[in-house]
Amino acid sequence: MIIIPGPSSRELGMKVADLMKAGMVDVKSKTHPDGEVHVRLLEDVRDDVAIIQTTAPPQDRSLLELFILIDTAKDLGAKSITAVVPYLAYARQSKRFLNGEAISVNTVIKILNSLGIDRFIAINVHEREIIKRLNVQADNLSAISLLAGYFKQKGLGKAYVFAPDLGAIDLVREANEVLGGGYGWIEKERDKETGEIRYGSMEIDVEGRKVIVFDDIISTGGTMTEAARILNQRGASCVYAACVHPLLVGNALKKVMFSKVRGVVGTDCVPSVVSVVSVAPLIAEALRR
Ligand code: R5P
Repeated sequence: MIIIPGPSSRELGMKVADLMKAGMVDVKSKTHPDGEVHVRLLEDVRDDVAIIQTTAPPQDRSLLELFILIDTAKDLGAKSITAVVPYLAYARQSKRFLNGEAISVNTVIKILNSLGIDRFIAINVHEREIIKRLNVQADNLSAISLLAGYFKQKGLGKAYVFAPDLGAIDLVREANEVLGGGYGWIEKERDKETGEIRYGSMEIDVEGRKVIVFDDIISTGGTMTEAARILNQRGASCVYAACVHPLLVGNALKKVMFSKVRGVVGTDCVPSVVSVVSVAPLIAEALRR
């Protein structure tokens, strides 16, 4: 198999190729003076290929690069194409929440279907049902054990793990399998128009406990900040934030750190200053399978 590291996941793609001892075809990308995207595969691709390209911000550009790369690899004679998309943009817009709203992820999936990929791999897609809309084999891998393992290695075994909304319960259950210190959650409601967050009540005792909040995404940091505030208020001895996709929009990291979070840990599904846990082994294993 040949690995093609897309411009948004260059380092991750190189790590995967290295772990698999697979060949790699480099990509040159640039922006034309008028803003158009230009990508070029620097070698022939006549084999089975895996294109690794996250679609984190700037997501529209990353998506277009992904689509163009798939189309080009196919055009140049790739035998089969696996699209590895560590962070799938628009996955949160998977339903029509408000009248007339676009179900944007469907548009992304329709394009992928029409490009004729052979397999799709994503990691902790926000709404895992989404990938069933693809008409090829689609896997949703989970980086939670890797993240939890990182904390364990740092001496946080037996920490209490906490979900900042109901959508993250599966994540903390999985983290608890590695850490074993118990888990809890709180109900979160987001105003569909304003984005404002409201929390329900919760029955948990974190007094004197080390707590790690696990979420799939930290975007503006609003969810994590609120969770940390509540946990600190309830007497947690320290609070850490873990996420698979550290989008960290604007001053999100500052905001989260300001809410007395001792550390923020993310994965390289989205390259960032907190992306210390690599999902390369996870991808390499899935590609070998
Ligand atoms: C939402 O359900 C997600 O799981 C995250 O909690 C959310 O996307 C985080 O966004 P923000 O950091 O803007 O609160």
